Amino acid sequence: MLDTRSSVLLSVLLCASLVSSFVEELDDSFMKTRGDDDIWLIKFYAPWCSFCKQLDPVWHQIGSELKSLGSPVNVGKSDATANTGLAEEFRVRGYPAIIMWKKNVKYVYKGKRTKDEIMEFTHRVSGPFVRSLNSLQLFQHAMSRHDVMFVYVGATSQLKGNFSAAAEHLIVHTNFFSAARDVLPKVIALTSLPAVVLFKDGTYFTYSEERDGELRLWINRERFPNFSKIDSYTLYAMGETGKLVSLVLLEEKNMCERSVRYKVLMEKVAADYRETYSRNFSFGFMEESEYVNGLMMKDVVMPSFVVVNLSNDGYFLPQGPVDTERQLLDFLNGVLDGSIQCQGGNGVVQRVTRLVYDSKLLLQSLYGKSPLLCFFLLAFPFAIATFFCYLCCKARATTDEDEDEDASQQSKTVTSKKSD
Ligand SMILES: *[C@@H]1O[C@H](CO)[C@@H](O)[C@H](O)[C@H]1NC(C)=O
Ligand SMILES: *[C@@H]1O[C@H](CO)[C@@H](O)[C@H](O)[C@H]1NC(C)=O
Ligand SMILES: *[C@@H]1O[C@H](CO)[C@@H](O)[C@H](O)[C@H]1NC(C)=O
Ligand SMILES: *[C@@H]1O[C@H](CO)[C@@H](O)[C@H](O)[C@H]1NC(C)=O
Repeated sequence: MLDTRSSVLLSVLLCASLVSSFVEELDDSFMKTRGDDDIWLIKFYAPWCSFCKQLDPVWHQIGSELKSLGSPVNVGKSDATANTGLAEEFRVRGYPAIIMWKKNVKYVYKGKRTKDEIMEFTHRVSGPFVRSLNSLQLFQHAMSRHDVMFVYVGATSQLKGNFSAAAEHLIVHTNFFSAARDVLPKVIALTSLPAVVLFKDGTYFTYSEERDGELRLWINRERFPNFSKIDSYTLYAMGETGKLVSLVLLEEKNMCERSVRYKVLMEKVAADYRETYSRNFSFGFMEESEYVNGLMMKDVVMPSFVVVNLSNDGYFLPQGPVDTERQLLDFLNGVLDGSIQCQGGNGVVQRVTRLVYDSKLLLQSLYGKSPLLCFFLLAFPFAIATFFCYLCCKARATTDEDEDEDASQQSKTVTSKKSD
């Protein structure tokens, strides 16, 4: 009996020590103790943050998987509310924050908080920024894994310098490779070398300096697929390119006939008018309406078309029905030429309205979960306000009485003087 107990205890202890070796708890001393060549993947959390707690098992899995792969990446976590020095150093602004630290540079993860996506980010950022593809097999393998990839083809050159610099900047977002000409399939036509080729949407595009401008800006603009499913993370990332995002909002399940038609229409316009619009718009469909509802401060009708300007939280809605390609083109052109008014935005009035809207939503969701708590949340400030009102009135009333008394005394003295 005792033996089994102690063996259980032993295995618990063993597990605990294993857990701690997968994920290290970091404090303010980290900046002194870390080695210059170390690579760290760090999660900053706050004890009260529920999203951070949800991430705990994922974080443990990531730690254990990287260990078993023999990865050079160390996995850590840090309570940002306790280790404020470290959090300040990493410029942690929200929780949880996932940041890779490599050769004194910090790479902030902004994607979905799933194991697969975080692992993908970890492999991409911890390795060489430009990975070389030495064989057709490797090229095909990369093609099968990535929807969007940029490949430098040719010998060392000034362009390669720019390509590497762009990779260093944008590695958080996309994939960079280099390959010799004979590694790429013959069907890929390259008129001259060196070249930068973008593979996406089942086809490829070759960079041209005259047409496309600076390489880094071109990569930043082109790193999204032609028409894709957008979640709130992708939406923010698209906003960072400075483009407007042209969206079709759809129901999550059981799309009606009209939704299917809208989606097809938007996809067709994105593809057929690529040349015309790809500089100004990213295209996609969204199945979660929360973000757009928040932006518009009302429930959006599904399905619908909307263009979002993420630089100023503004949005554009079509002025009439959009059922044909012509009508959708008119809508997009109207946004570009300014004939359709931008709504929303981040002006003071909008921000106050948004605050009220958000508070209302919060109260509603609280009411759904716990009506009693909601009642107290509402009743408590109300009770305090009433109490203060009461105090004020009472104080007012008593001072009024005092004044009255004084006045009557004065009048008394006046009358007494008069009588004199
Ligand atoms: C858009 O991309 C998808 C794959 O991502 C591809 O199947 C489709 O053919 C593309 N459409 C056009 C017109 O480029
Ligand atoms: C390459 O980088 C240099 C220095 O940043 C820049 O001046 C030049 O325009 C870039 N060239 C291309 C093709 O992007
Ligand atoms: C989007 O917002 C930015 C920042 O306020 C602004 O400069 C730009 O003109 C807006 N775009 C459109 C099409 O309204
Ligand atoms: C559309 O893109 C072109 C090229 O980048 C730019 O000059 C123009 O200002 C953009 N239009 C709007 C309304 O943003």
